[in-house]
Amino acid sequence: MSEQDVKKIAVFASGTGTNYTALKAYEGPGRYQIALLVSDRPGAPVTVRAANDGVSVFAEEIRGRGDRGRFEARILEHLKDARIDLIVLAGYMRLIGETLLSVYPERIVNIHPSLLPAFPGREAIAQALAYGVKVTGATVHLVDAGLDSGPIIAQQAVEVTEDETLETLTTRIHSVEHALYPQTVARLLHTPYRVRGRRFEWV
Ligand code: GRF
Repeated sequence: MSEQDVKKIAVFASGTGTNYTALKAYEGPGRYQIALLVSDRPGAPVTVRAANDGVSVFAEEIRGRGDRGRFEARILEHLKDARIDLIVLAGYMRLIGETLLSVYPERIVNIHPSLLPAFPGREAIAQALAYGVKVTGATVHLVDAGLDSGPIIAQQAVEVTEDETLETLTTRIHSVEHALYPQTVARLLHTPYRVRGRRFEWV
């Protein structure tokens, strides 16, 4: 396979980076290569993981209101230099703005630890547990300007047991994420798809 055939992704993350590590482990021919790690938290554990893997890291703090556009413009330069095909959010704690959405339409994805549209936003696993749902799970979706609101690509359910704690449920949802996300990302890069209204469809 020539260098040009390799699909390149940028992972955006703010925190621990277990999804980054799962994505990294799934790299390969016919799948993708992680060419860039972007973070709004310099020094976050995920930036250390990526640096240790030899992945290029671009990390800068966003300072104050109105800085997101400038931050995204700087990110864009790195994305273009690295010839990124798909942006993969993995625990990135910021909304994506028009600067990136307009250049990567339907080419930005996110994973969220609930069955959307239930429990968007932060602490989704705790929200679901406190609500008393019997089934929750993980959702991979396209990113739009809203909070966890874009068209749904894939979902996997996780049953809530009688003696569930936040720790046990978090562990099970994360292990579902770590399998679902890399496989879905690879499929997106190699299988045509279209979006009609809210409906995502493989073609
Ligand atoms: C994951 O649960 C993901 O669904 C959510 O943020 C969490 C990131 O965890 N968007 P990690 O940093 O990948 O461990």
